[in-house]
Amino acid sequence: MIDARRCNTRDGITGALVCRHDLYLQLLEGPSEQVSAAYMRISRDDRHAGINKLVSRQVTNRMFEDWAMLHDPAKSLIWTQDEISEGILGRIPQTEIVGMFESVAKNAGPEHSR
Ligand SMILES: Cc1cc2nc3c(=O)[nH]c(=O)nc-3n(C[C@H](O)[C@H](O)[C@H](O)COP(=O)(O)O)c2cc1C
Repeated sequence: MIDARRCNTRDGITGALVCRHDLYLQLLEGPSEQVSAAYMRISRDDRHAGINKLVSRQVTNRMFEDWAMLHDPAKSLIWTQDEISEGILGRIPQTEIVGMFESVAKNAGPEHSR
């Protein structure tokens, strides 16, 4: 993650990574070209399998402007493992996924605690 944060700082990308043993949910925000390039790098990294882009949209304000990549140990994850494996993330409105990240942002402490 040190390398990821270094790349993100270089590219003006901020965001959050919510991790649970069955799932990583990551939000990347920044200039669209750089976000696309980071998404491509992450997609071709063979440490990951089953990558899906769930939400892609233009925004005016960042949620994680102080965070090169906030690490959240799934405190905010609101779906069960069964729901996830049954594909709930592909069925629910995108606003619910965005809302989960909004609660991560709201609960984030000061940047130095990351
Ligand atoms: C869980 C996880 C999250 C990652 N997040 C990022 C990220 O936010 N930004 C980034 O540049 N690379 C991230 N990476 C690393 C990329 O997958 C990739 O290894 C790195 O960008 C270098 O890519 P390259 O070897 O194709 O240049 C992440 C890797 C893992 C395992």
